[in-house]
Amino acid sequence: DQTWAVVPAAGVGSRMGGEAGDPAKQFRELDGAPVLVHTLRALASALGVTGLVVVVGEEEVEPVRQLLSQDAPLADALKAVVAGGATRQASVARGVAHVPDEVGIVLVHDAVRPFVRAEDIEAVIQAVRASGAAALAVPVADTLRRGASGRFEATVDREGLWRMQTPQGSRREVLADALARAEREGWTATDEVGVLQRTGAAVALVEGDERNIKLTRPSDWLLARALWAHREM
Ligand code: C5P
Repeated sequence: DQTWAVVPAAGVGSRMGGEAGDPAKQFRELDGAPVLVHTLRALASALGVTGLVVVVGEEEVEPVRQLLSQDAPLADALKAVVAGGATRQASVARGVAHVPDEVGIVLVHDAVRPFVRAEDIEAVIQAVRASGAAALAVPVADTLRRGASGRFEATVDREGLWRMQTPQGSRREVLADALARAEREGWTATDEVGVLQRTGAAVALVEGDERNIKLTRPSDWLLARALWAHREM
């Protein structure tokens, strides 16, 4: 059974706090290559991942196609570079629509998570084979407390709470149907697990690794450089 990964990379990255005209976070460079390229190489290095669909802004489709076709390790796995939508969910839906029927499993992975380990991607694929849908998550380590108007309110029991990561995946037709239903009915979720659960699908939990960070805020860049320098090869 083939597995393809859909990589949403169409955001503008307003939380990165960059100047107007700065490249979006997925195109910023880490050790001489854009973060998106590192992320795609990580996905392609996992056993079982045979196809990559990259979703970018409309003006970026051609430049990104050019950039990625020149990257020998990626050229084989790269199947399509397509234009995204206004939300992450719309971008994911467009990417999933480009995965052909004969591909059994689809994973969705954020363009801005370049540190995902091959073994964790493979564990998600195994869990999808066993359960139909699965996603990476890590346990919450901090104390959680509600707060409003400058005051703390109730403490939230963190027992059994997880921070979701990607990849998140499922049987291809299950995610494609769930995304189509969301679009038809006009609702959104913040990730694929949310979309799947809202349509009644059960999703297996695969414990991931803290290093699979999402490069979101400016300070994440410091962490990214350190993680890159100390990555296990
Ligand atoms: O903005 P956020 O951190 O939620 O983005 C998560 C991922 O979704 C990023 O890889 C970003 O490029 C992608 N995204 C997208 N289309 C959008 C918004 C975000 O592909 N409209």
